[in-house]
This record gives sequence, structure tokens and C-alpha cells, in this order.
Amino acid sequence: MSARPITTIKTVVAGIEAAGTGIKVFTLADPDRWDLPPFKPGAHIDLHLPNGLVRTYSLCNEPADNTRYVIAVKREADGRGGSRALHDEVGIGDVIGVSLPRGGLEPGADIARHVFVAGGIGVTPFLSMARHLLRIGNADFVLHLIVREEVPLAAHLAPLIEAGRVVVHRTSRAGRPDLASLVGEVGVQTMVACCGPEGMTDEFEGMTAAWPAANVHIERFVAPPPMIDPDAKPFVLSLARTGTEIQVRAGQTMLAALHEGGIDIPTSCCGGICGACKVGWIEGKPVHRDRVLSPYERERFLMVCVAGSNADRLVLDL
Ligand code: FES
Repeated sequence: MSARPITTIKTVVAGIEAAGTGIKVFTLADPDRWDLPPFKPGAHIDLHLPNGLVRTYSLCNEPADNTRYVIAVKREADGRGGSRALHDEVGIGDVIGVSLPRGGLEPGADIARHVFVAGGIGVTPFLSMARHLLRIGNADFVLHLIVREEVPLAAHLAPLIEAGRVVVHRTSRAGRPDLASLVGEVGVQTMVACCGPEGMTDEFEGMTAAWPAANVHIERFVAPPPMIDPDAKPFVLSLARTGTEIQVRAGQTMLAALHEGGIDIPTSCCGGICGACKVGWIEGKPVHRDRVLSPYERERFLMVCVAGSNADRLVLDL
């Protein structure tokens, strides 16, 4: 039984380009060159790799270009295997299933200033954002790119660096910059965002803790370790569309319980950072442990890979 079809789009690898040490840029297109579903700047797609892995990557082309999805992938020799598979096993013409794009940042009319902070390959979501802001003529944005020495995606970033839109901070030469001074003062018309390694995103999160949540956006490479709740109690998931009831054992994830009940839910990170397993909830008291949903979204959605329940029964929109 599957309560929710897993939607993937068939794409072919139309281009592969080296873009720095250990980095490849993959261009995916519709096999018949139809337009692809639209996406917001900084949105993600899940790639369903030939070896069965599902991995999430930021789109780095400009959203107005809907003929292709462009992703940049750094080969992580000690990673979970997705980047190795893409680098070592995928070639031009290969078919890859991808999810519909999700997430990203919609530059609101009320946001006058954008400050982005990226660590290394964490620059990818901001590349699409920067291209978008330039196209719509937003004058006030800057991307601070912190690297040890080499600039990833150098050819893609060169025009933005030249235009002063991307400021490169090389830690091998000048040490680590102070994030607070890069970001500046809190302001309702300012949007700040960070994507990079764990230490950087943690520091950024602490530094912006007092900012309005809607003005801060953080993307992580790696999911934090699973949170074990020693006081977790069993509860029942009630699936509104079918009337099915599924028991979640104490300490079990909703995702595992749903899978045991034969319900397919798309997943990628299994740690609350990618957004692949988002499900609507209708009734109950969910405990949100993800790092992707906004307070507003949490009123209607949860991430089944990490969320819990503070009540005996939780009704899901499944
Ligand atoms: S699988 Fe990534 S948030 Fe749940």
C-alpha cells in the first residue's frame, strides 16, 4: 500500500563540467527537452541515483531558466556515497530521476537587503539566488564566501566577484572572518542566510538567535545526530485519507512506523534538514525537531523522519 505517490521526473545528464578540485557541475534536462517544473532561487531537488541512493542538492542555475537543473557536487571520499556515485558512475546521457524542486528563498518585496554567508561548496544555493537578484534588479545583496584557499565554481562566480557581489574570504591568508561583522545589524528589511559546514552554521544560528525567524535562513550539509528522547511514549498515527491507524512505539520514528505500515514516504537525509519527508498534519500535538520548517509551516506540516508527538494520537494528511 502507498498513501502518497513518490513523484519523480525523468531527466538525462546533458552536461558534466569540472568546476574546481573535486567538484563537478551536472546539468540535467528533460529527455525530450520539455521545460522542467519551476523552482525558487536556492531550491533543492532529490536525485534518485542509479545505485538506489537518494541525495539532495541545491539548484544553482537561475530560476528563470527552466530548461535545465544545474547542480554542483563535491566528491566526499568519506561521505555517505551519493557524491562518489555521481562523480564515479554517472555519465552524459544517463537517466536520473529527480524529485519536484522544493524549498528555496522567495525574495519578498519587503526585503531590501540580503546578506549571504557561504562556506566552500555551500555557495551553491546562493549562486541561483544571486543570479535571480541580479536579474530582477535588486541592488542590495552581498555574498560572503569563506574558503580555505581555492574558490569553488570559480568560473561561475567570476562575474559576481568582479561585480563586487561576491566577497571571497580566504582563511589561509587572513584567518576566519567574524560572522557578526559580515552580517551587520538586525533589520526587518534584511534577510540573512548561511550554508556551510556544521561549525559555521552553528555559529551563525547562535549569532542570529534573536533575529525574527522569518529573516534568517540556514542550510546544513549534514543532519545532526538523531535526538533520543528518553521520555518518549508510544502514540497512534491516524491517516486521515484512508482511516488507517498505525502504532508508533516509544522511541520509534514516525517514518519507521509508516514504512512498517506499508506507507512509502520519500526521504533523503533522514535527519530533518532536507525537507523530503514533509507531511501535513491535521490534529494533535506534534513535536518538531527538524531544521527546515518555518514556524508558520509548522502549523501545518511536520517532518516524519524526526518529529514526535506530545499526544496519544496524531492525525496526518495521508
Ligand atoms: S528525510 Fe530529510 S527531512 Fe526527513
